[in-house]
Amino acid sequence: MSKKLNIFEMGPRDGLQNEKTLIPTASKIELINRLSECGFEKIETSSFVSPKWVPQMADAAEVFAGIARKPGIRYTALTPNIKGYERAKASGADEVAIFASASEGFSQKNINCSIEESFDRFAPIVEAAKADGIPVRGYVSCVVECPYDGPTPVENTAMVSERLLQMGCYEVSLGDTIGAATPETTEAMLDAVLKVVPVEQLAGHFHDTKDLALANIMSSIKMGLRTFDSAIGGLGGCPYAPGAKGNVSTLAVAKMAKLLDYDTGLDIEKLEQTQEFILSIKEAAAA
Ligand code: HMG
Ligand code: MG
Repeated sequence: MSKKLNIFEMGPRDGLQNEKTLIPTASKIELINRLSECGFEKIETSSFVSPKWVPQMADAAEVFAGIARKPGIRYTALTPNIKGYERAKASGADEVAIFASASEGFSQKNINCSIEESFDRFAPIVEAAKADGIPVRGYVSCVVECPYDGPTPVENTAMVSERLLQMGCYEVSLGDTIGAATPETTEAMLDAVLKVVPVEQLAGHFHDTKDLALANIMSSIKMGLRTFDSAIGGLGGCPYAPGAKGNVSTLAVAKMAKLLDYDTGLDIEKLEQTQEFILSIKEAAAA
């Protein structure tokens, strides 16, 4: 097995989408520029969703226009519908992501449609992105539990993951949106998903509500996963997932990987400085 661990930085998007006070666009740009020096291959830069639904991401185009792009890094964005895709493309996003839910309740609350309807909305995105040569990633939310529907049957998570892959996503990121997973439920869920999606095309996306994200990552590593989403400073949560704490901290994952002798390509010292920077910006915004 490869000793490389890929860490996909979520801070500017999944991190900042849930901030109570708006973070200035210039600070977001500086955060991304600092992250660009840390060694990431992919940084989720913003999302082109409805500004009425998520005002924190209303400046996505300005953020994309303002960052100093470092060659070799993919600056990515969430796109819920074709309108979002067109905006992302116009802003020069290197990769887009569609996001489905394994539970009906969260699908309705987060993107205002059923799971089935969401696939109809995603199809034109994938088609357009293919024609434009833009890679598409797929997220599945509530892979273990939903804040509205309770525990998610593992077959539902497997079905939605398989559909995203069949549509043309190069990778499916499994989101424990509210951080409800434990190593046991993570393994049961992965057992089901691995029957329909090759392990190389899976990523783990753990929120740290119960302080079990690192343990869940460990379980996923044991089952062969080598790509994980995390956010600098453990920022984040989802505005439509009550109780969701932040993403697992990038620094914590990078340090754990180092101890276990996995290569992430990340510079721990620069991560520490970047974490300090964004936490001080958050504090200033809250004051
Ligand atoms: P809707 O209200 O059903 O959509 O929302 P609509 O098509 O009726 O449009 C309503 C208004 O929004 C219209 O404006 C549209 O033009 C505008 P109006 O005519 O009223 O002035 N609009 C847009 N504007 C800009 N960009 C767009 C766009 N689309 C519509 N792309 C919609 C449906 C999907 C748009 C909405 O529900 C939405 O934006 N949801 C996104 C919610 C979100 O961003 N959640 C957080 C990300 S998911 C997450 O965090 C989980 C993840 O991290 C994994 C995990 O942890 O599980 C990925
Ligand atoms: Mg998330």
